Amino acid sequence: MQQISYLEDYRLFKLDTEHSSYVLSVTDEEGFIGHVYYGARLAADDLRYMLRTADMPGVPSQNGRERVTFMDVFPQEYPGQGLGDFRESAVDVTSAGGTRTTRLTYRSHEIRSDKQKLEGLPATFGGPVQTLVITCEDPALGLVCELSYSVFEGVDAILRSARLVNEGSQTLQLTKAMSASLDMDVADYQLMTMYGSWGREKKIEKNEITHGKHSVYSMRGISSAQFVPFLGIVDRHSGTDSGEVYGVQLVYSGNFLAQVERDQADNLRLTIGIHPVGFQWKLEPGESFQTPEAVFVYSDRGTNGMTHIFHKLYREHLIRSPYKDRKRPVLINNWEGTYFDFDTDKLLAIARAGHEAGIEMFVMDDGWFGKRDDDNSGLGDWVVNERKLPGGVKRLAEEIHRMGMKFGIWFEPEMVCPDSDLYRAHPDWAFHVEGREPSRNRNQLVLDMTRQEVRDHIYEMMAAVLRDGQVDYVKWDMNRPLTDLGSVKLPPDRQGEIFHRYMLGVYEMQERLITDFPELLLENCCSGGGRLDPGMLYYSPQIWGSDDTDAIERLSIQEGTALTYPLSAIGAHVSVCPNHMVGRITPFDTRGNVALAGTFGYELDVTKLSEEERNQIPEQIALYHRFNDLVCTGDYYRIASYRENHLWDAYAVVAADGSEALLTYVQVLGRPNARARRIRVRGLQPDRRYRVEFVEQGVSAEELHRWVQAQALPELSGQTLANAGLPVPNLSGDFRSVLVYFQAV
Ligand code: GLA
Repeated sequence: MQQISYLEDYRLFKLDTEHSSYVLSVTDEEGFIGHVYYGARLAADDLRYMLRTADMPGVPSQNGRERVTFMDVFPQEYPGQGLGDFRESAVDVTSAGGTRTTRLTYRSHEIRSDKQKLEGLPATFGGPVQTLVITCEDPALGLVCELSYSVFEGVDAILRSARLVNEGSQTLQLTKAMSASLDMDVADYQLMTMYGSWGREKKIEKNEITHGKHSVYSMRGISSAQFVPFLGIVDRHSGTDSGEVYGVQLVYSGNFLAQVERDQADNLRLTIGIHPVGFQWKLEPGESFQTPEAVFVYSDRGTNGMTHIFHKLYREHLIRSPYKDRKRPVLINNWEGTYFDFDTDKLLAIARAGHEAGIEMFVMDDGWFGKRDDDNSGLGDWVVNERKLPGGVKRLAEEIHRMGMKFGIWFEPEMVCPDSDLYRAHPDWAFHVEGREPSRNRNQLVLDMTRQEVRDHIYEMMAAVLRDGQVDYVKWDMNRPLTDLGSVKLPPDRQGEIFHRYMLGVYEMQERLITDFPELLLENCCSGGGRLDPGMLYYSPQIWGSDDTDAIERLSIQEGTALTYPLSAIGAHVSVCPNHMVGRITPFDTRGNVALAGTFGYELDVTKLSEEERNQIPEQIALYHRFNDLVCTGDYYRIASYRENHLWDAYAVVAADGSEALLTYVQVLGRPNARARRIRVRGLQPDRRYRVEFVEQGVSAEELHRWVQAQALPELSGQTLANAGLPVPNLSGDFRSVLVYFQAV
């Protein structure tokens, strides 16, 4: 299938996906690369009028004296700075002489039927795929820039990145190298972003795009809980199921800037990439710099349409783990169950009780190593604490394996506590600035992962534990932002490279880990969802969604997370009540139902549960086994958002062939004297009929039974379910939930 074409007569590059087109052009006179169009699919017409150069008094060929005016409005595809385009630039370069102007023009292009790896970086892969590489140059700097665009067959996404090469003889300093810039024509768009904090990640927000710049960003060295490396540009009249929506996301886990700017002509310029603040990269002659990859998605089927494209792309072309399409073992993690207060016997008791209830993997969280009875010491000393675990990890793992369970373990490899043997031996391994005491966070410092010897040392310690215990799963945690950036090994003019070199170092370690232990199930975590980003998904098929395990808080956290990430990637567990973070008391079945829209597991001490709750675990695990394939492979439809309506939440997962679907309904607050709610179930096939099953479980069983009897619900068509909707009873109490299963007949 031809997805990328060069229309020579018009000097247009046209990238087509099934439902979208992305068009670029090269100007006749000087070879500027201009953005022509991105949106619903187009025919191969002469689209150069979209550049609107005729509107511009300063087109250089007609009016050389007004070149600056031209640059100020021309939709450059990868703008430099200092020559008249005063909007956000994509690349800033300082020459050996200290000047700071960049002017990139077309040199050549190539259309390939593969997609090359991005050196040292996570990126989408696989095929069938086509890639357009446009090579631009700035001869005055000796700088070459390769703009890369890939299109996978069957996926409505465009993958962009840039590679900057110093082909000249002078040393250059990059002070900005964004992954992509995109100029969009005037339209009534709004901005969709996600914000948050520890314990309340990924809250979706919509705002007006007024004149000026609006951005989300991170300068913390991690993609962060505070913002997500994602921007949505949505038609004001779009909704979950209709209307035009653009989504852009960065495949990267460190500092980022995702920004939209409304300019003097009311046009939008979208910019995404590594945050230029705190970034500098020295390019000696012959050296190159590769930016992370940016994902562009267009949908005319609302935010659900956008979600389906992201999910498909990430499932098929980003997540690599052998567990990608495998059912993950139902795990129990002891963190909220014991915190630091455990020993082998206690852990084995939890594992045993969990095993009896049907749990398949035991995960030992923080506290098993070094001197670690609280979070003040020990990070960096990845040697078992024999006082707590006599016989070591090996003995515990053997016992767990003997029960027939898998065994997992927690690490925080990027950190060191000042009170640790590692720090006492190598104080210079932590980031610090000479003459200044480095700032602690959770009493820990960040290891200088730009250094190979530091990475090797930590990696070897981890690998020894994994080999010794035949470990099946690792939770790779990261619990503080980066500060006090100073690396004793880098020269002064490369200190600005630390943030990015740090990420490259972490990626290298994770790559090594999954290469050396190919069957390992790796779960990333960053104080919860602080690094739940596409970069990390390349290494681990699942990422802990949030330290907030309260089922109601999780509704909006998981809503935001599922906006772009497949449900199979979202770590979600059942924990005890009152919830440790918000003190809320919710029914056990609701906690289970919400966690089913993720990897599913438990984060508690089973031995301390009431008999009633403990008895519900096998039932919940049966639901997990019954529905997990559907949850992992189906299309996710957001139906109602508690975040917006403050009363209820609903989403469905529908099999790709429409043969079955699972609806999750959560009645957050009970209402007096209320009638049944009608839920319009999206995604079913209109002309097929579906048997409707209210899945009875736990405390809701009796009430639901009565409801189903009274309704005597017939088989309903997909059309009726979508338009008239499914009636769901008003349940007694708050935080109630219902699962409804639809089977095509
Ligand atoms: C972070 C993680 C938690 C837990 C603790 C252990 O906060 O997000 O799940 O592992 O660290 O210290």
